[in-house]
Amino acid sequence: MKKLTVDLPGRAYDILIERSLLDQAGAHCKTVLPKARKLFIVTDSNVGPLYGQRVLDSLSGAGFQTTLYTIPAGEQSKNPAQLAELWESMMAFGLTRTDAVAALGGGVVGDLTGFAAATVLRGVDFVQIPTTLLAQVDSSVGGKVAVDLSAGKNLAGAFWQPKLVLMDPETLNTLPLPTFMEGMAEVIKYGCILNSVFFRFLEIRPSRRQIMEEIEHVLYVCCNLKRSVVVEDERDTGLRMLLNFGHTLGHAYELAGHYTEWSHGEAVAAGMCVAAQLGVRLGVTPAGVPERIADICASFGLPTAISCTMEDYAAAVGLDKKGAGADISLILLEQIGNAVPRKLPKNDVLDLISTL
Ligand code: NAD
Ligand code: GLY
Repeated sequence: MKKLTVDLPGRAYDILIERSLLDQAGAHCKTVLPKARKLFIVTDSNVGPLYGQRVLDSLSGAGFQTTLYTIPAGEQSKNPAQLAELWESMMAFGLTRTDAVAALGGGVVGDLTGFAAATVLRGVDFVQIPTTLLAQVDSSVGGKVAVDLSAGKNLAGAFWQPKLVLMDPETLNTLPLPTFMEGMAEVIKYGCILNSVFFRFLEIRPSRRQIMEEIEHVLYVCCNLKRSVVVEDERDTGLRMLLNFGHTLGHAYELAGHYTEWSHGEAVAAGMCVAAQLGVRLGVTPAGVPERIADICASFGLPTAISCTMEDYAAAVGLDKKGAGADISLILLEQIGNAVPRKLPKNDVLDLISTL
């Protein structure tokens, strides 16, 4: 088993990575939740039928009284009405302040369940059992929990760290290919911003099959990088912003495709490629870096460019918002494995984009 500790003062927790870990969920939860009698598990309509019973069996085998609550799969479930339904169901289940909640699923289940845990009874313990690549390398670690509002994604939320993160890499075998590749965009991002050796490791393993052969290592490296960022900057006021590499431009592409044409991962992939090109133009990023990022994205079937209007770019950099400030902090690469924030006038960024 691979193990990492997110060493936040007073709220340290472990990330455990092991094949078939779902069947050990009960014993591990018992260790970190010694007072809990009840465990309210949330999953979605795809993950529940695949893995729900195994997790229920393991948890009840360890003595927990459990229930499995299933939300419809998809981002549209990450909303305040669904959150309120969860609160009510937790109360109907008889959850008390010493009991706990578990999220079995991708980032949607994790974000929604985490926010429900942060708010019900003014906060109860929760456990993340992520089942998508994106959730395993990113959303289950670091304590950001949220729901979407009609004004935008993740606009109501909290920082609420889990008590434990349990990753069973075998759950990734049932992921649809596009969902796996979306997660790869975030995996590639870690190499770009923090670890050139890992970037090279990915370059020479350009397929899902090769990544799955080394999946424990991939999850360990990514979670270790995220862990190191989160312990330095839990509240996202500095270092954690490096994780946004490719995300500002990616937001423009998500807008351009009305959030339906391009997935978040696809938009981030193209965003990383264009951010690297911008870095070259600004004299920050060495020549050749954009091509390496584009090659690796393409090898995982991710787009390296997405057409987009200047209006969408302006909206993504926040130029359409009154009073939002004239500058933007863009994450650029000094080299592969070394990201830096650069404060730039938004108008200059847009001018530069228009010349690419
Ligand atoms: P998701 O949770 O919607 O899962 C994607 C799809 O895969 C869903 O249809 C789901 O039912 C299915 N699925 C999940 N696991 C499966 C499995 N093992 N086998 C088969 N199907 C499976 O999406 P996601 O990409 O995991 O997460 C996206 C969400 O994460 C977004 O809401 C985003 O805002 C959020 N997010 C949060 C953070 C954070 O720090 N909290 C970071 C990044 C993204
Ligand atoms: N996914 C970005 C963060 O956790 O900060």
